Amino acid sequence: MSLKSIQINPARHLKGEITVPGDKSITHRALIFASIARGKSMVKGLQKGKDCLATLNALKMMGIHMEEEEDRLVVYGQGLSGLREPPNILDCGNSGTTVRLLAGLLAPQKFYSVLSGDQYLRKRPMQRVVEPLRKMGARVFGRENGEFPPLTILGGKLKAIDHSSPIPSAQVKSCILLAGLYAKDRTSVIEPYRSRDHTERMLKFLGAKIEVNDLRVSVEGNNSFSGANIWVPGDLSAASFFMGGAAILKRSKLKILQVGLNPTRRGFIDVLLRMGADIKILNMRKICEEEVGDIEVRGGNLRGTVVQGGMISRLIDEIPILAVVACFAKGETIIRDARELRVKETDRIGAIKSELTKMGAQIEEKEDGMVIKGVGKLEGAQCQSHGDHRMAMALIIAGLSAKDKSKILGSDCIDTSFPGFWRTLGQILVQ
Ligand code: S3P
Repeated sequence: MSLKSIQINPARHLKGEITVPGDKSITHRALIFASIARGKSMVKGLQKGKDCLATLNALKMMGIHMEEEEDRLVVYGQGLSGLREPPNILDCGNSGTTVRLLAGLLAPQKFYSVLSGDQYLRKRPMQRVVEPLRKMGARVFGRENGEFPPLTILGGKLKAIDHSSPIPSAQVKSCILLAGLYAKDRTSVIEPYRSRDHTERMLKFLGAKIEVNDLRVSVEGNNSFSGANIWVPGDLSAASFFMGGAAILKRSKLKILQVGLNPTRRGFIDVLLRMGADIKILNMRKICEEEVGDIEVRGGNLRGTVVQGGMISRLIDEIPILAVVACFAKGETIIRDARELRVKETDRIGAIKSELTKMGAQIEEKEDGMVIKGVGKLEGAQCQSHGDHRMAMALIIAGLSAKDKSKILGSDCIDTSFPGFWRTLGQILVQ
């Protein structure tokens, strides 16, 4: 684990106008779908954090040619069966999205491949994708009978399935849909709540045969589609750290331009509004099937709320920063039905509780969430990221909002999802 430490001094407020890097989830999908589309795609706004580069490099290792041209990447798609056996292990780094989506892409290929990653990724559960892929006839193996990477895949023909996922997970859904594009007949995934639907939207945009019926998503097998010009909007999850900071630092006035506002991702905004935050959405439009707009946030008084059920998957990645915000709200904030946080880049329930407690937060840990008592202030402290990029950024915002200086250990993992984080923060920080 990296122990690089950074000192954070308290901020007065956040002020100005910024953009954030391209959406991480949409970038992974743009790279994968452009690679298996027929012909050329031009992708604009790609995010170049380490997670997305892991997907990009894996696709290059399977023979996909890509060229950088000014502000865009040209991807020469080879069609559904144009990938080649990679000459080495595909290194997914820290990226759960890379390993799970590529498992679905690789299971139907006519070759052998191995997916692995860093010490954190090799502890994350894979049975959720291995089990349905095996039901499709895939030969996928991993440590502890397929629970942990490295995953070895002996690709081959697949059959369609109807899969009822016990958890709302876009990675699981997208893995099965990717495999389903190659299967014989129609493959469906049903979720208990809707998870982010970028895969469905991008497949529709590219002209693939896909049907969405409430919580059921189906794709036809042997489903080829063509390349296109894809624009990736700004990442709402990246924006959320600055939004959270602006909401709690009084006299803040922040505008974030061209951010993805897909309803399956917008839970953090809905919850902040419910907490009384001053947020305006401006300039809403739809590009490449995704809603996009500008977000304006001003600092103010907040109150606690309850976050549960279907709301959880709409803000799953924003819970570390939501916990920081909740420390400054009046009353209690209750987060439940969020057991999935235990198997993210780190156990985020445990990490939020242990790190924010060092800063004077009052958090009661529950098996599936937490109760955060609004204490109205945080103290400076020495905290650690647990190797988790979203924990690191949430702690930095906590440090900016604290009364005295803090030290955050292991902040270099921010590169995973937010290249340019410090530069962007520097543009709006008033100290
Ligand atoms: C993602 C889905 C979510 C999210 C992750 C990205 C995706 O994970 O937490 O950061 O791009 O599909 P789950 O599908 O495991 O909920």
